[in-house]
Order: sequence, then C-alpha cells, then structure tokens
Amino acid sequence: MKTKTINILKKAMEGGYAVGAFNTSNMEVTQGIVRAAAKLSRPCVVQASISSLDYDGDKMLKYIVLEAIESDSQNAEIGFHLDHGKALNDITRAIDAGVDSVMIDASRLDFKENVTLTREIVEYAHSKDVAVQAELGKVPYLGREEMGEVNWDELMTNPEEAELLVKETGIDALAVGIGNAHGFFRERFEPDWERLDKIKNLIPNTPLIMHGASDWDKDKVLKAIKGGICCFNIDTDLRIAFSTALCGVINKDRCDYNDPRKIMTVVRDAVQKKVEEKIKMFAMM
Ligand code: G3H
Ligand code: 13P
Ligand code: ZN
Repeated sequence: MKTKTINILKKAMEGGYAVGAFNTSNMEVTQGIVRAAAKLSRPCVVQASISSLDYDGDKMLKYIVLEAIESDSQNAEIGFHLDHGKALNDITRAIDAGVDSVMIDASRLDFKENVTLTREIVEYAHSKDVAVQAELGKVPYLGREEMGEVNWDELMTNPEEAELLVKETGIDALAVGIGNAHGFFRERFEPDWERLDKIKNLIPNTPLIMHGASDWDKDKVLKAIKGGICCFNIDTDLRIAFSTALCGVINKDRCDYNDPRKIMTVVRDAVQKKVEEKIKMFAMM
C-alpha cells in the first residue's frame, strides 16, 4: 500500500517509538503541525474529522493540508488521515479530499455490526489504496456525550474480539480503549496495562492507536509505548494552545494587534510549540 500514514505507523511500531496524530481544522493549525514536524525532522500525521471538512469545505481543507505538507514538511514524513469517520459516505468524502488513511469508528455499534461495517469500509478504502483504522471498545467523550456512570470494564477493548476484528476485516490499525477518554475528563484511575499487553500479544502486527491522549504525561506515554502503542491522538491540547494564545493577543492590553496576520502568527507559533513538545515526548527525545 502506497499510503504514508500506515508506513509511518508501521515504522514506529517496528522501531519501538510512537508518533502523534494531530487534529487540524484550519490553515494555521495545519501549518503549526507541519512546521513542528519539519523543524524536528520527525514523522507525524495530520488528521481531520468530518466536522473539520464541514467547517472548511472538503476541497479547501484538502488544498490546505496537501499544500502545507508539500511546501513546509522538508524532510519530515507526514500522513493525512480521516479521524472518526462513521459511515461509508464519510470515507468516500475524505478519500476525495486527499487522505491516505481513514478511520471507521463503529465502536458504538455491537461487535457483529462493527465487523460488518468495518469490512465494507476496508474493501472500499483498500480498492483506493487507502489504509483503515478501526476502533474496538469505546473511547468515550466524557463531558461531550452522555455516558452516565462510567463502567470502564464495559467500555474497554476485549482482546479476543480485537483479534477477531483484525482477522475478519483486514484493518491496518486499531484504536484501543484501556481506560482512555477524549478530552481532559475522568479517565480510568490507571490504564489497564495488562489488557494492552494481551491485545498486543494477540495482534502483534497491527499498529495500536491511543485516542484521547492530550492529558497523558511522559510516564503514561512511555508505559503505553512499551505496551505496544505507536500513535497518540491529540486534539484538545492543540485547541487549548490555540485559544490561550488567541486570548493572549486580543485582550484589551494588546489592542494594537488588529492585524489578523499578527494575531494568527502568535497562534500558529503556539500550536507549533505544543506539537513540538508532543512529538519529542512520543519519540522519547
Ligand atoms: O476525537 C475527536 C476529535 O476530537 C474531533 O472532534 O468532531 O469536534 O472535530 P470534532
Ligand atoms: P483528545 O481530545 O484527548 O486530544 O483526543 C483526540 C482524539 O482522540 C482525536 O481522535
Ligand atoms: Zn479520537
């Protein structure tokens, strides 16, 4: 498969390190991500959700991301991936928008339905030479979706099912749940490291992805890499870097900043700095 993202993930898996998959929603965030990777000469993945395609327009985001990679990446290898696609229509849209890898998140369906939908997506995406990440177990959006009382045992990935999903669908990568959650909200008191070991042992050749990694510190990241994680998804931390920098430049003491280019330079630099921190942590630099 010619796709960049899957090569980046496989190299990381084989090399015993990890990379970041960073969410973008606009030009400045994209440039911040790409420039961070270029500065450190490290691989990474730029990813966009369907909400970001809706926000920018599919073609606009395509040109932003592909052009940022083309003009700014220097020696860094950078993939373009669809984050949390939910249906075939999301996948076809994203492939038309230039991604080389897609995620089908059928984790809210029951296992059989997850297998059926994921298999259909793999068939389509592979025919376009595009890689597929699936999700098994639920990585909740605590604070964004109504979960009620969290029962982690019900949410986390079942290792035997993970093995079956890989066999039955031919996916290229798998997002796992071991107590991780999107955003900065109530994760499990300690990730279920034993579960991660079991998953890795059963599907040693499938790159494993950790969603909801914004609030993961160095210690947890290292343990996760040792347990077989080769990619951490980061969105919330970039949103915070973006909005904190923006608030800093447009507050009343800095009203001389009325030029969008000056404002967005500060914001873009703040995103770049945050991505550099994450890339170094994942690469154990
Ligand atoms: O995990 C999901 C990402 O944070 C994307 O969120 O749909 O608001 O772009 P979004
Ligand atoms: P965070 O919101 O914790 O950064 O997770 C991002 C993510 O998993 C995107 O798929
Ligand atoms: Zn996610």
